[in-house]
Amino acid sequence: MSECPVTPSNARAQTEGVSLYKRLRIGGRMALREKASAFLDLLEKEEGGPGVTSSRRNQVLKDVARHRYYEHTPEELLWGCRFAWRHSVRCIGRFFWRQLEVRDARHIQGASDMAHACMEHLSSATNGGAIQPLVTVFPAQRATIPWRIWNYQLVRYAGYRAEDGEVLGDPAEAQFTAFCESIGWKAPKTKGLFDVLPLVISGPRCKPSFFTIPAQKVLEVPLSHPDLEWFKELELRWYAVPVVSNMLLEIGGIRYPAAPFNGWYMGTEIGARNLADWSRYNLLPDIALRMGIFEKRESSLWRDRALVELNRAVLHSYKMAGVRMIDHHTAAQLHVRFEDDEKACGRPVTGRWDWLVPPLSASTTPVWDRSYDPTEYSPNFLTQNPPRGFVP
Ligand code: ARG
Repeated sequence: MSECPVTPSNARAQTEGVSLYKRLRIGGRMALREKASAFLDLLEKEEGGPGVTSSRRNQVLKDVARHRYYEHTPEELLWGCRFAWRHSVRCIGRFFWRQLEVRDARHIQGASDMAHACMEHLSSATNGGAIQPLVTVFPAQRATIPWRIWNYQLVRYAGYRAEDGEVLGDPAEAQFTAFCESIGWKAPKTKGLFDVLPLVISGPRCKPSFFTIPAQKVLEVPLSHPDLEWFKELELRWYAVPVVSNMLLEIGGIRYPAAPFNGWYMGTEIGARNLADWSRYNLLPDIALRMGIFEKRESSLWRDRALVELNRAVLHSYKMAGVRMIDHHTAAQLHVRFEDDEKACGRPVTGRWDWLVPPLSASTTPVWDRSYDPTEYSPNFLTQNPPRGFVP
């Protein structure tokens, strides 16, 4: 699917590309004017992109000089978000970056309107199981206190820590769950392993408030196994769409601290991490017991055998439920195609090896014996500090 193969005629464009990317490096001390104009250059060069007129360029420079701010056009926002995905060094799913769509919510003010827009995001992205990669972009940061979503993802399961330190549910959410309770959220009467947390939103002159997500907005998949009949008796489940909501979207020097985005799941995220990690749901001993292979001797590889069956169950269940999901072998192969496309277009190929390598059968995938340049370019989705006052 490479759109711009290397030919002698575009060799010059490729050298230009290299120096443009120098100006797009994140972390340098650049004025907003320079960041904006590097972004416009990137947009202008983009094959199949919307282009940039010279009057638009002048207008941006004028707005920046006058207000230290400029407003992205809808097209600039759409392509800015796509570039942000393309530049995401931790993401193995970038082959699909051109499929990303955007909901423009930059006009939305107020916690409850934001919560409402987040719930709409969930419905559109879920798309009945045919998951649509989607970003909702809330207001850019201008004042000192921006609008923020406090959740790591729009949908996550509560983790209730008991006095003895044991957690019921997802231990990764124990701190956030306690915080939700401290601002008045009430857990369901019977607490379970998979209780969906509320949305928490704050903004200028607006303390964090919580919003319960109606059950019909959250598509979930009950887990069963293609051969092991008893697997469904474990009553495990996971949600359909991972919508990361705590990262900052940066485009051409403009910062969007609330911009929840999603793709679809790769099976191992659930089967080899969320449900398997020792510090998460830690289900391998239970599964191995049921399989009748649990024993003290590590060299029997009971953990590995249970891990494979758990991952088969995840892939099988999402398929049965008609919810889009990719396996780690296909994902890694498509990432290599993405790398080839990027190279052919004269763009730097970037990545974080420690993130790209899948957590199961890593050495059987083609990303294993490659090395990656972790440089981050703008636009991008960046980590940001938790909102002020997070400590529960
Ligand atoms: N790893 C995270 C999780 O298991 C989700 C991160 C985003 N993943 C994705 N496929 N877009 O919930």
